Amino acid sequence: MENKKYYITTPIYYPSSKFHVGHCYCTIIADAIARYKRLQGYNVFFMTGTDEHGQKIERKAKEAGKTPKEYVDEIVSDTKELWKSLGITYDKYIRTTDKEHVECVKKIFLKLYEKGDIYLDEYEGLYCTPCEAFWTETQLVDGKCPDCGRDVELVREESYFFRLSKYQDKLLDYYKEHPDFLEPISRKNEMINNFFNKGLEDLCVSRTTIDWGIPVPFDPKHTVYVWIDALTNYISALGYLSDDDSKLKEFWPADLHLVGKEIFRFHAIIWPAILMALDLPLPKKIFGHGWLVVDGAKISKSLGNYKDPRVYINETSVDALRYFLLKEVTLGQDGNFDEEKFLEKSNSDLSNDLGNLVSRVTAMVEKYNNGLIIKENIENEDIDNELINMASSLIINVEKNMDLLKISDAITQILEVISKANKYIDLSTPWLLIKEGKPQRLNQVLYNLVETIRIIAIALKPYMIETPDKIFSQICVSKEIQTWDSAKKFGLLENGTKIFKKDNLFPRIEIKKEKEKVESVENNNVTNNDIVKNKEENYITINELEKVELKVGQILEVERIEKADKLYKLTVDLGTEKRTIVSGLVKYYTPEQLLNKQVVVVANLKPVKLRGVESQGMLLAAGDDVVKLLTLDSNEGSLENGTSIH
Ligand code: MSP
Repeated sequence: MENKKYYITTPIYYPSSKFHVGHCYCTIIADAIARYKRLQGYNVFFMTGTDEHGQKIERKAKEAGKTPKEYVDEIVSDTKELWKSLGITYDKYIRTTDKEHVECVKKIFLKLYEKGDIYLDEYEGLYCTPCEAFWTETQLVDGKCPDCGRDVELVREESYFFRLSKYQDKLLDYYKEHPDFLEPISRKNEMINNFFNKGLEDLCVSRTTIDWGIPVPFDPKHTVYVWIDALTNYISALGYLSDDDSKLKEFWPADLHLVGKEIFRFHAIIWPAILMALDLPLPKKIFGHGWLVVDGAKISKSLGNYKDPRVYINETSVDALRYFLLKEVTLGQDGNFDEEKFLEKSNSDLSNDLGNLVSRVTAMVEKYNNGLIIKENIENEDIDNELINMASSLIINVEKNMDLLKISDAITQILEVISKANKYIDLSTPWLLIKEGKPQRLNQVLYNLVETIRIIAIALKPYMIETPDKIFSQICVSKEIQTWDSAKKFGLLENGTKIFKKDNLFPRIEIKKEKEKVESVENNNVTNNDIVKNKEENYITINELEKVELKVGQILEVERIEKADKLYKLTVDLGTEKRTIVSGLVKYYTPEQLLNKQVVVVANLKPVKLRGVESQGMLLAAGDDVVKLLTLDSNEGSLENGTSIH
């Protein structure tokens, strides 16, 4: 009998107080796969965690005036909260500061040393601290780290080395014999060309100048190189070399290591070589996914295009965010995180297509049948069969795609059934059936629709965490027919099933308003709690109002900002000073229309950088779809620039 276990991992993340949607992307994919496998009856072990040692963390903790451990402890509890709010169902959260992990790394280092695969020598070379990566002169791009483009440091010290070169041919043979081991193929080829063709060099695996790390057990002035420490998490978590390695026996080799493209080479070269040296089997697959980008640049805290996942969860829903990342980004490729598209998709796919389907159908059952589903024993028509065939093969089609890690295509299959069901309503015209006095046909149509919705809700379970249950609370089906396998069969919905109509699953979003809210939250760095509070407390006091400094300003210059379709850079005269204000008015005003206008300026707004230009205030405007500036072209004579408005 097939061993139905599945071990899936994400990378362990460097602790950061600013986890962005890019970080969440990989974890959400892994979670969707883990949920899918569980639904299929696999015994799943899904692991994520934090990579807490190394020079980078040591420096950051120092800057924060904390010990490294204090620094990471705080962040880890925050990170766990974030994963909870995204519905991440990890089975283990590993920290490289965990005692069991530390002991395991020491034992591995000793084992490799005793075997002769680790030896002492001297290292002279270049090191990129943010990537914790060693580079040779020829690998640099314009003298900088080829991965992140930042400066590298010259390092010269006594070091231990891992005999990576010894495994070059073994690795290449393994890749050949296991064509599915590294994916996507393009990344595998790129890696072979960039690293193997030049020949693998032995790898420096210890540092004497870093204290925050795991000491080499037989030579404690050395600290284990952070990538060796980090990669071994995948087996230390299973109890490798410990008294209890039952989990290792159960789950190793891993079925899938899901990693970002910039750390693919560590996983595809160094990790398998270490496993070969330890005589352990290799993971079944290492998949290098692409990045979430904004205007072509990787989302990253250091690049300043940070996108807080919590803002999106609060402003839309966790399911809308998960849906967008899973559906709109093809796994393996980079994907643009476009806020407007995210909100539009939430409206079109979720509110219009899925939400309306459930609302329309439940409303009709309530209105025409007092909320009861009646199962008739009459022959289906052609349009019924078309819907039934699509719905009953949905799970199989989702599985076909999921097994190839084509997550976006799997979701497309669900969308197609949703769209078919919406069309079926239009073709079967239940509102005419009631008028024409055809109750049996009406019952049959409504049954087919509700049964299709049941199957859709089950198919959504890997991707959405709230919606399936919300649907089941509207169509009260028993637990037995909420299972994955039950969705492979059409017609399990019982006669007499009760329907309780509720609000649309995904309320429509007013895109413009929502976008502005998201932007202002991002710009002002408001926290999760603040947003929730704002929603609850809509009033402000007079004292709070007085904090807003409004002034008369006059627009003196208008310029376009390169690569920003919507923004003008305005120079505004506030009487005693001139301010630069960035404003999204391109769609509504020509520069000529704006020049010399007297406008209302929020003068004490915290400056923010928009597309590289510091905006030192805001102009007041009205309207959502057509925006009109509040100007002071009154008949009462012009006001002096800088006059306070109250
Ligand atoms: N600590 C190492 C991993 C060790 S695994 C043994 C590390 N950490 S990281 O925090 O820098 O990155 C963790 C993961 O987040 C990587 O897979 C990386 O590709 C991913 N992402 C970071 N920014 C990303 C995007 N903008 N988009 C998608 N994934 C991105 O590397």
